[in-house]
Amino acid sequence: MDIKPSIRSNIFMNAHPLGCQKYILEQVNQAKTFESFKGPKNVLIIGGSSGYGLGSRIALAFNAHANTINVSFETAPRQNRTGTAGWWNNIYFQKYAKATGNIHKDFVGDAFSTEMKQQVVHYIQENFKTVDLVIYSLAAGARKDEATGNIIKSHIKTIGLPAEGKTIDIADLSIKDLVIQPATEEETKETVFVMGGSDWKDWIDTLDQAGVLSEGVKTISYTYIGGTITDTIYRGGTLGKAKEDLERKALLMNEMLSKKYHGEALISSSKAVVTKASVFIPKMPIYVSCLFEVMTKYSVHESILEHKYRLYKDMVYGQKRIVDDLKRIRLDHLEMDEKIQKETATLMDKHTDESLFELSGTKRFLKDFHQIHGFQLEGIDYDADVNMDELSLLQPE
Ligand code: NAI
Repeated sequence: MDIKPSIRSNIFMNAHPLGCQKYILEQVNQAKTFESFKGPKNVLIIGGSSGYGLGSRIALAFNAHANTINVSFETAPRQNRTGTAGWWNNIYFQKYAKATGNIHKDFVGDAFSTEMKQQVVHYIQENFKTVDLVIYSLAAGARKDEATGNIIKSHIKTIGLPAEGKTIDIADLSIKDLVIQPATEEETKETVFVMGGSDWKDWIDTLDQAGVLSEGVKTISYTYIGGTITDTIYRGGTLGKAKEDLERKALLMNEMLSKKYHGEALISSSKAVVTKASVFIPKMPIYVSCLFEVMTKYSVHESILEHKYRLYKDMVYGQKRIVDDLKRIRLDHLEMDEKIQKETATLMDKHTDESLFELSGTKRFLKDFHQIHGFQLEGIDYDADVNMDELSLLQPE
């Protein structure tokens, strides 16, 4: 099969399996250059096939030498479809993680479902007995309501007034004006149902009731706070309401886990990076491009892997935790630095047209977006035919 990038509305419609393999290998090789740290033994990651969940998995598998279980929703290749990047990430993570000598298991299916939770519990009982860390890193556009059978969708909208802004159209490399409409009350509720904390809490309750949480267990999820630049579309919008719910659930679970297991439930506010979820949010592509430019200038830019490695080494299992008054770990302190925010805003005001594409930050943004789908990686011959029949035989383990 000839595989060339296919992008529609800032969503990649395909992935390059061999490029994904290279992407994983590069991260694994980078992780191997980092120091080891003492962390958890058995980790469950919900949403570990891409983005922050995958970065967490690689850091914990290669630097804390943990066993990992990953639950993700990915699509296998079939007919003339390549399969999703996360599908290939799972397969190639397994390939390179074999050398760790630890156990790494993948479940591909709907993490929101009771059935998946039961399957994972059963696997833990049979293989690990208990888990020491549960990472909840889902980014989903929809969730089935098991009570009614309805599919509920999330909405990326403002609350109150509409907002005008600009975004990058990645397919034709242009800047587009956009108006984001305010959500109805129902739409806000639906977004909280999909992206809030109720399913995270369901996972922890299920694991608790099944007796598969270790003494001292920790659970963590990733929020985004951002500043005035992203406020209207993120923190002040429907996604912000979902994140407030996630953060409230963390406080509730923290009470239970600390009493019963001397454990903790944590929230880490993570920096804006390029993932399939973040690029989809209007305005984020321009913000992230300018942010990358400024953070690189001050030598504080971090890749997804570096960011998550620092989270676990320094702030979850180390002694360098930075928390705010709502008890959230502020791993995003470099992004939120006043000087960084101010210069990012200035750059955004200056580059409201195609001149944005001349910035090295924008080039890095575009490259990252291609690379997370297996494109623009060095050493891959993108003109060569990809033998999908052979690759289709590979299955998650
Ligand atoms: P991503 O799109 O790269 O990864 C999402 C993961 O969720 C994938 O593994 C996918 O397979 C899985 N998933 C989605 N629906 C599922 C389902 N029904 N069942 C099982 N798995 C499912 O997203 P990203 O950006 O890594 O997001 C992870 C978390 O980090 C989100 O909560 C997001 O809000 C948060 N975050 C992301 C930031 C960013 O800039 N990307 C910044 C701060 C927080």
